Amino acid sequence: MQIPPGVTAALKEHGQEHLVQFWDQLNEDQQKRLAKQVRELDLVLVDKLLDQRDRAKNESGPADDRAARAESPSHVVRLPKSPADQKRDADAAEIGQQLMNDGKVGAILVAGGQGSRLGFDDPKGMFPIGPVSDRTLFRVLCEQIKARSQRAGQVIPYFIMTSEATHLPTVAFFEKNDYFGLGEDNVYFFQQASLPAVDDSSRKILLERPDRIATSPDGHGGVLRALERGGMLGVMRDRGIEHLYYHQVDNPTAIVCDPVFLGHHIQSDSDLSTKVVEKVGPEEKMGVVASVDGTTEIIEYSDLAEDQSRRTNPDGSLVFWAGNTAIHVFRREFIERLLADELSLPFHIAHKKVACIDEQGKPVEPDSPNANKFEQFIFDSLPHAKVALVMEASRQREFNPVKNAEGSDSPATSRAALCQLAREWIESAGGRVEKDVAVEISPLFALDAEELQSKLEPGRVFKKPEVLE
Ligand code: UD1
Repeated sequence: MQIPPGVTAALKEHGQEHLVQFWDQLNEDQQKRLAKQVRELDLVLVDKLLDQRDRAKNESGPADDRAARAESPSHVVRLPKSPADQKRDADAAEIGQQLMNDGKVGAILVAGGQGSRLGFDDPKGMFPIGPVSDRTLFRVLCEQIKARSQRAGQVIPYFIMTSEATHLPTVAFFEKNDYFGLGEDNVYFFQQASLPAVDDSSRKILLERPDRIATSPDGHGGVLRALERGGMLGVMRDRGIEHLYYHQVDNPTAIVCDPVFLGHHIQSDSDLSTKVVEKVGPEEKMGVVASVDGTTEIIEYSDLAEDQSRRTNPDGSLVFWAGNTAIHVFRREFIERLLADELSLPFHIAHKKVACIDEQGKPVEPDSPNANKFEQFIFDSLPHAKVALVMEASRQREFNPVKNAEGSDSPATSRAALCQLAREWIESAGGRVEKDVAVEISPLFALDAEELQSKLEPGRVFKKPEVLE
C-alpha cells in the first residue's frame, strides 16, 4: 500500500521522514503497524524535548544548582528510639488500620520498567525471588495485599501500571495465576505511554527494525496521565478510595499498605508521603530527599554530582542521607489536582545504549550510549504537595530491591534478606532456625513478627528448608 498522506506530511513537518524509508520492503501488516506507530507519536512533544536537550548541552545543569542549595530534609519521622516514639508509631498504626478498615485505601504498583540491568527478559514481576519456593515478585506483593485486605475486612484494589513491553505478558501471568487470589475485579491494569528513542548526535528518531520505531516507556511519572487515560481515577472514586499506596515491583520486602506509614500520612494531612532509608554511603544509587529553598524534593542520583553527594552537615552527617525507597502514599485528590492544573512533570533525558538499524538497514549493537530516552519521574510532583511527609524506615526490614544481576541489590541479596527476616521473626516467636537453613514465610501466613508468634508452635526448630504458607 501507499504511505498514508497524513503520515508523510507529519513526518516531513518534523524532519523524521527516514522512519518510512524502508516502506517498500515491508508487507502490508508491517506497513499498517508502522503507520499506526507513527500516528501515535507525539512529534510536537519530541521537538520540545529535543530543544530542551540541545539547550542543556550548552548550559550547566539546573539540577546541580539545586543540589548546591539543598539541605537535609527539615522534618523526618525518624525510626523509633524511645518508648514515646513507639507509642507515636502504635497510635499511627491504629489510624492507618482504620483507614483500611473503612475501605479507603488502594495500592498502585509501577511495573512498566524494562529491567534491563537485571538481564531478565520477562516483566520483572515474574522474577522468582522466594528463597525456597521461587515465588515471584508479583506473588509476594499480591499475597501482601490479600493478607492486608483480610485483616481489614475490606478489599484493597490493586492498580498495576504496565507498559507496551510488559502489558500482555503481565496480564497473561495474572490470568494464569488466578490473580493470586485477589479476584479479577479487584486488579486493574493500565498502560503507560511510550516515547521514541532519539539519536544522540542528531534529532533523528531511531528505528529498531525497518518496520518498528525504537521506543521506551515514558518513566513512572507517566503514571499520572496513564491513570487518567485508563479511567482509573473514576474507578477509585466509585470505590471510595481516598489514598493510594504506591510502590515498585522490584522490592519484595516493601511493607505494602503499612498501617504506620498510612497513619503518619493521615496525621500530618500529607498530600504525598515518602519513606526513606539511610543511604549506605554517598555513592549508593538512590534518589535523595532534600529540602531545596524550603520545599521537600527528591534529587535523582543521576543528577547529583559526586562532590555534592559527599557534602556533610556541621555534625559530620551526610546532607543527602535520606535515600528514596520509592514507597509513597498519595492522596487521590492530590493526583486529581495535578492533572486538573495540568502541572506536567519535567522530562529527564537519559543517555542510553539502544539497539537500532542504520541508514542502510543494518543492525547496530552499540558498545556505548548512542541515544537519548525521555522519562518523567513521579517524585517530581513533590514540590506541588501542600504537605509532604517524610518517614524513615529500617533498611534491613524494608529495602531489599532486585535491580542488578549480581552484587548489591541483586537476587542474592534480596533472597538473603527474606531469609534473615524469617529467621528473626521465628526467633522472636521462640523458635529456632539451624545455621544455613533457608525458611520462607508467605505473607498469607504472617505479615509481621506478631502474627507469626500467634501461629508458630512454641520451640519449633527448622532443620531443613521450608515455606510457611
Ligand atoms: C528508583 C528511583 C530512585 C530510588 C530507587 C529505589 C527513579 C528514577 N529512581 O531508581 O530514586 O532511590 O528506585 O529503589 O525512579 N518503572 C515504570 N515505568 C517506567 C520506568 C520505571 O513502571 O517507565 C518502574 C519499574 O518497573 C520499577 C520502578 O519504576 O518498578 C523503578 O524503576 P527503575 O528505573 O529501576 O529505578 P531505579 O534506577 O532503580
